[in-house]
Amino acid sequence: MSEQKIILTGDRPTGKLHLGHYVGSLAARVKLQDVHRQFVMIADAQALTDHAHEPALIRSSIMEVALDYLAVGIDPRKTTIFIQSLVPALAELTMYYLNLVTWNRLKHNPTVKLEIQQKGYGEEVPAGFMIYPISQAADITAFKASIVPVGDDQIPMIEQTVEVVRKFNRLYKTDVLVEPQAVTSTLARLPGIDGKAKMSKSLGNAIFLSDPADVVAKKVKGMYTDPGHLKVEDPGKVEGNPVFTYLDAFGKDKAKIDEMKAHYARGGLGDSVVKKYLLDVLQEFLEPIRKRREEFAKDPGAVMQMLKQGTEAANKKANQTLTEVRSAMGIDYFSTRS
Ligand code: TRP
Repeated sequence: MSEQKIILTGDRPTGKLHLGHYVGSLAARVKLQDVHRQFVMIADAQALTDHAHEPALIRSSIMEVALDYLAVGIDPRKTTIFIQSLVPALAELTMYYLNLVTWNRLKHNPTVKLEIQQKGYGEEVPAGFMIYPISQAADITAFKASIVPVGDDQIPMIEQTVEVVRKFNRLYKTDVLVEPQAVTSTLARLPGIDGKAKMSKSLGNAIFLSDPADVVAKKVKGMYTDPGHLKVEDPGKVEGNPVFTYLDAFGKDKAKIDEMKAHYARGGLGDSVVKKYLLDVLQEFLEPIRKRREEFAKDPGAVMQMLKQGTEAANKKANQTLTEVRSAMGIDYFSTRS
């Protein structure tokens, strides 16, 4: 077994998780939990940075996200699953780290910039939203995580975390904070069913892990393909065609998929045939997830109990780091030191 590392990752609870989450990071977490010490955080405090007006949505999404985790096989015996806002050390670390970053640097985080644009915030961006990359640095460093499995839109957050770590360790002449590394999936990101670059709940182009079979069927039937592929006998484009991207991500029979791609490219293979096959592939993938989800959903009390235990374990680890941070900064006023 390779050396055990610490992993921290998480999701904002603003709804159910979808296939994009699975490809981007859930699949990696299921594997990594067998090898490393993994913490998975339900980032409710971060979700509030752009959903302050919707606490009820966040509250209900905590259960949905937890069920999605359990359904895909994140196992609470191997992975500590916890709720961000119930780990107060994270908020305190955020306060200290904020002093190590400039306003100008915050304004240049590319992911935040894009989100500000997409949400139409302009100058009226909530201050909490502006600084969420630093709160994310607190999440990651509190657990001394060296690996962060995330979608590629999160890479700027990890870069900013590395900057905070270096600055902190240099300034306070310490090595308490650990530099993290992003781990992204080989398939960079899953496009939406509308062909847009990213699957996302807010774009309304997602297939959710919990979608019932008939909903999945409807979504697949309506999927965007190659708009130039009008007649079956026309040659079609495989590159950038989400139907094939999904087959690459979820199909097991690579030979068959390669054959279909070649056939589609030279013409003579209809979209409906490819979609029919994709639907079979997706149903086979989603059916066991759906079943497990229904099982866990029967006992929400047990799910909450699991989260409570995970949150207790997370507090232990984060409080320990906070103590070390305060000591490194010399603001551990009541501790005896020489
Ligand atoms: N920003 C992440 C997302 O939107 C969620 C998140 C919060 C996170 N804190 C984190 C991910 C720490 C990795 C590490 O998906």
